[in-house]
Amino acid sequence: MTLSQKWYFEAKDLDLSVVGRSFMITGANRGIGRAAALAIAKKGGTVHMVCRDRDRAEEARAAIVHESGNTEVFVHVVDLSQTGRVWQFAQDFVKQHSSLSVLINNAGCMLHQRELNAEGLEKNFATNTLGVYVLTQSLIPLLQKSRDPRVITVSSGAMLVQRLQSDDLQSQKGPFDGTVGRFLPTCPWPGPAVLPRTSRAS
Ligand SMILES: NC(=O)c1ccc[n+]([C@@H]2O[C@H](COP(=O)([O-])OP(=O)(O)OC[C@H]3O[C@@H](n4cnc5c(N)ncnc54)[C@H](OP(=O)(O)O)[C@@H]3O)[C@@H](O)[C@H]2O)c1
Repeated sequence: MTLSQKWYFEAKDLDLSVVGRSFMITGANRGIGRAAALAIAKKGGTVHMVCRDRDRAEEARAAIVHESGNTEVFVHVVDLSQTGRVWQFAQDFVKQHSSLSVLINNAGCMLHQRELNAEGLEKNFATNTLGVYVLTQSLIPLLQKSRDPRVITVSSGAMLVQRLQSDDLQSQKGPFDGTVGRFLPTCPWPGPAVLPRTSRAS
């Protein structure tokens, strides 16, 4: 939700059933992802939890099933920093499922030491950018089979003042702290008033 959408948020818009719709949520074992998974399960949706640690995921799944009474909650173990595995998971999911209504790209990380994944890619970039791109692109054909499909990507307000450093995707230039790149003095935060209002889900 952007700041402008927050101004238009109305709690009664959440008053709807999602029975018959399926939702994939990355990083669903804790935080915002877990809260979203529980809320959707309570409203009758099918939930696909994409998590990197089986024990943490199963513990969360058990709690969600217990609290919601909905058993249509499934765990998929995928480390989103491992790009090849994300691609393979998405290919398998498309083969094994007839539809997907909503993808919620929620998982995110902020590693302060520069680490590389199995393909030699910097892990913050692999998890927060490339993994999201690979997962979303791979699932679009499946999403398109659903009525009114959605892709929701959870980000940070800090990213509104950051541009992707396309000349240094692997963060090899300059000091690395894993937080922000170089602030853009020529591109200050323009204020929420300039953001377009998006239509509410019906
Ligand atoms: N909360 C805030 O104030 C805030 C502010 C700005 C942006 N955000 C963004 O909002 C999203 C959710 O925030 P949150 O506070 O709920 O986060 P959180 O509590 O830190 O949870 C992050 C989730 O992402 C998962 N994750 C991280 N790296 C992963 C990987 N490589 N593969 C699979 N799963 C991975 C974590 O799994 P594990 O449990 O296994 O670590 C966890 O389930 C994130 O993208 C975050 O950057 C949050």
